[in-house]
Amino acid sequence: MCGIVAYVGNKNVAPLLFEGLKRLEYRGYDSAGLAIVSEEKIKIARATGRVSVLESKVAAAGGFESHIGIAHTRWATHGPPTEANAHPHTGKTKSGHTIAVVHNGIIENYVTLTKYLTERGHVFTSQTDTEVLAKLVAELYEGDLEKAVQSALREVTGAYAIAVMCDKEPHTLVCARKGSPLIIGIGEDSYVVASDPSAVVAHTTQVITLDDYQVARLCAGPKDRKSPGGGPWAVEFRTTTIDNVRVTREVEELELDLQQIELGKYPHFMLKEIMEQPESLRNCLRGRIDQRECRVVLGGLTPLVRDLMRAKRFILTGQGTAFHAGRIGEYLLEDLAKIPARCEYASEFRYRNPIIEEGSIIIGVSQSGETADTLAAMREAKERGAMALGVVNAVGSTISRETDAGVYLHVGPEIGVASTKAFVGQVAVLTLLALYIGKRRFLSDETVRTYLNDLEKLPEHVAKVLEQSDHIRACVERHVHRDNWLFLGRGYNYPVALEGALKLKEISYIHAEGMPAAEMKHGPIALIDEGMPVVFIATQGSQYDKVISNIEEVRARGGKIIAVATEGDTRIEKYADSIFRVPNVPEAMQPLVSVIPLQLVAYHAAVLRGHDVDKPRNLAKSVTVE
Ligand code: G6P
Repeated sequence: MCGIVAYVGNKNVAPLLFEGLKRLEYRGYDSAGLAIVSEEKIKIARATGRVSVLESKVAAAGGFESHIGIAHTRWATHGPPTEANAHPHTGKTKSGHTIAVVHNGIIENYVTLTKYLTERGHVFTSQTDTEVLAKLVAELYEGDLEKAVQSALREVTGAYAIAVMCDKEPHTLVCARKGSPLIIGIGEDSYVVASDPSAVVAHTTQVITLDDYQVARLCAGPKDRKSPGGGPWAVEFRTTTIDNVRVTREVEELELDLQQIELGKYPHFMLKEIMEQPESLRNCLRGRIDQRECRVVLGGLTPLVRDLMRAKRFILTGQGTAFHAGRIGEYLLEDLAKIPARCEYASEFRYRNPIIEEGSIIIGVSQSGETADTLAAMREAKERGAMALGVVNAVGSTISRETDAGVYLHVGPEIGVASTKAFVGQVAVLTLLALYIGKRRFLSDETVRTYLNDLEKLPEHVAKVLEQSDHIRACVERHVHRDNWLFLGRGYNYPVALEGALKLKEISYIHAEGMPAAEMKHGPIALIDEGMPVVFIATQGSQYDKVISNIEEVRARGGKIIAVATEGDTRIEKYADSIFRVPNVPEAMQPLVSVIPLQLVAYHAAVLRGHDVDKPRNLAKSVTVE
């Protein structure tokens, strides 16, 4: 969603802000803007569309020169994506100075605050909730930006990550957070603030994070203020709560490699992340399979192993792709660990007054660890007495910090908006978790060993599926003009069908539905006409014959069958128009391989339709509002 970059230091800020904004483009946005302080005045530029449009606008205005600035990419929530609604937003102080603010999150009491501020003479020019924050800081400003921000935030309800500056204090950035992510990079002569580590790592790997309700004041300026152009710089920061109590934040090392967030030889991040799945899986599984002892090692769970064994029920939750991984987790935990499990949309779970019995464990599945709905559901369940586990990719994210324990995916940063390697990582971790518990309950060593063997071979299995990319593209080319597709599967492959359909929708804008193959004849079969592409996940397993019957039903009505089938299965050839092969693995592990061709189907369809794969319309990588 929205992205923040802010900088104060000894370099010219505009190119750095643009570079940072571009690194955040993947999160999804529809307008962008920046503000700097130049000659004790705040200068602002805003534009709808891409960051490059904003860049041209600034260049046309003769460029912006400064050592301090704040910038933002906006994903519209309150008010359409217009220039007036783009950040930064400003407010005028009583002394005639200007405050500029960029903000991620939602100010929930903005209506009341707007009324209050309008009565005090502030004139609103946008339809955003953010503008109220700029005006409130300005209203409360009495010559100290940090104090004004603290006072303003005490009046605010909602979620925020903000960066604020004032033309009266041209060497000071103030930032704060509650709910929305924000990290602060500590450079030698500078500070860089961003909503995402990818915009920080090019500058420094030394970072601090803020907890909710914390504020950082970052000052950087020439030691000798009389010769601002040259000479050494002095930097200084301090962290407080919004009640102005000093807090200490540890400086941490950011574990992110620039290469991981660059395209390299690939045209799109999505393709890079699909193709690198053998490697990301290797990283995800590293150290977690102990063949000798025939066991799964999940260090993060060790302190809670007794609670896990006593668990009476698992509630898995997430949104989007993570929800689909959770659905597979539900099958895995019941099948391998024999503990009742249910996966629910976090957004639904939270508001339906859920009953949490003793011994319930909630598992939050999330790539970013920041999805607002998932976070809220986890908090709700914890409040009602559940133990909380996280299956999260982003290290140090809010969900990972608020859970009792968890297992990181370790698949590396995912930049492509359409989630691919994170999904496979989530399913792999949930498989490990089910085996971890199952082995301690009743699974025989022999059964566990079969799974461990196949898990170890998983990177090779996936690499083999990926070799079919050209073949998949050729197949997609034949059907890409069709506007409606169906994805059908049974058992473990039913959530895979959901995921296949979601991927296609997200980036190719083709309408697609995923459902249990048997459900099709209870209504959706009416959609099938001559030539409609119907993707079956028809791998060999307990329901194979039933899936073949469903295929026949579709064929009889003229549908075109695209099958994901097991290597060596010749029977399927009679039924399918196109076949993508996956290796023969135990049924519980089939999603890990059967989803791969579907990722490629979506990717090739989007490219063939001429869409911007990494910046799909209306989508945000991480949805931090409910
Ligand atoms: C957004 C993204 C999806 C993602 C979902 C959950 O909707 O566009 O790709 O699956 O959020 O995100 P999370 O970070 O919690 O996995």
